[in-house]
Amino acid sequence: VDADGTRVFALDARAGTTQFAPGVVSDTWGFNGSLLGPTLAAERGERVRVDITNSLDEPTTVHWHGMHLPAEMDGGPHQMVAPDASWSPEWDIDQQAATLWYHPHPHGETEQHVANGLAGMFILHDEHERSLGLPSEYGVDDVPVIVQDSGFSAAGEREDPQRGYAGGLGDELIVNGTRAPYLEVSDELVRLRLLNASTARTFAFTWSDARPVELIASDGGLLEASVALDHVRLSPGERAEVLLRVAPGERVVLQSKTTPEVAGLVGPVADTNGGSDAFDVLEVRAAGTLDPAPAVPTRLNVIDDFDLEQVAMTRRFELGDSFEINGASMDLGRIDETVTVDTLERWIVENSTSLPHSFHVHDVQFRIASIDGAAPPPELAGWKDTIFTEPETEYELLMRFEDYADADTPYMYHCHLLWHEDQGMMGQFAVV
Ligand code: C2O
Ligand code: CU
Ligand code: CU
Repeated sequence: VDADGTRVFALDARAGTTQFAPGVVSDTWGFNGSLLGPTLAAERGERVRVDITNSLDEPTTVHWHGMHLPAEMDGGPHQMVAPDASWSPEWDIDQQAATLWYHPHPHGETEQHVANGLAGMFILHDEHERSLGLPSEYGVDDVPVIVQDSGFSAAGEREDPQRGYAGGLGDELIVNGTRAPYLEVSDELVRLRLLNASTARTFAFTWSDARPVELIASDGGLLEASVALDHVRLSPGERAEVLLRVAPGERVVLQSKTTPEVAGLVGPVADTNGGSDAFDVLEVRAAGTLDPAPAVPTRLNVIDDFDLEQVAMTRRFELGDSFEINGASMDLGRIDETVTVDTLERWIVENSTSLPHSFHVHDVQFRIASIDGAAPPPELAGWKDTIFTEPETEYELLMRFEDYADADTPYMYHCHLLWHEDQGMMGQFAVV
């Protein structure tokens, strides 16, 4: 924290090497190290600044995924940082406690920069969340779980997988930068912050003993109450906070088991797009003696519904077959939508293709009002900034861009399957 109370972070994007297998060196990129980046954390109401240096030999950006902030600070493709240059965005944290993340967003190169290892978590806290007594000791009972898939050569060197329609699907996982990881815990109750930082793969997280997954938060913050689920589905870019209760000495494995239905894939494409893939994600090993779990209140958050009568503008976004949105491919020089500041917007997102996509909106957390006309399931009823869209399905989203009007600098919306984004499945909106 500097003299005027700003919380200052430093990130240096650089190339390095990582040994995913002992003695086998892979070229990777990281912030401040050779893979991934430090977890940043801030409190609602704080002002933050991030001093970014680009030590790579190509331009990149750093985007704050899920963050409400001025467009100029957003780190999208308009805020490129040249090699050896630096950039110091600053903004006020003005949103509720949530698990956000950061990653590069250079136009046409996002998939590669993220796959190389540039990503990190950005955790926000607030007073309300602290008052609930949820597990909050970072790395002890409050643990980031950054899940990415990758390819590996027979010798154990990381390599980019071949692309299918979704993008590159790797046949192994890297979790927090590690293959085959385990986590030792000494508390009865553990909070895992799951982030799907893969470029293309959608996961369905389950427990090895089939216990329900206890979901407490989606992208933008806590749900009203926890939900017990058979699985938590996360497409690229989405996050979920889950609670795990363990007994002394217990071993349980977080897994991902998709089925063609969960993956939104049916017919001949189902098996070639990861629709039946299963992975062990993280083995949790409980100590012989555990610190007792605090009671978790039933009511976690209050989420007021938007009043549909106040909708000032309805827009449609049709996701099409050749990576276009509303028939157009991304053009950095074109602003596709102009939003009036602090009015209620209804965005109807229709996936009219036969394969899944994800849909992400910068700057804002939205609510899903309906999916094909029906109310969303409880796990999708909270705050979201990225959603998995099933083929031939229509999603009605409600959102309000409260402030930061700027006619000259747009924000983005796009498919978060990063190869699709790079192919132009992205558009721009300005808030005025
Ligand atoms: Cu996570 Cu526009 O990105
Ligand atoms: Cu984003
Ligand atoms: Cu897509």
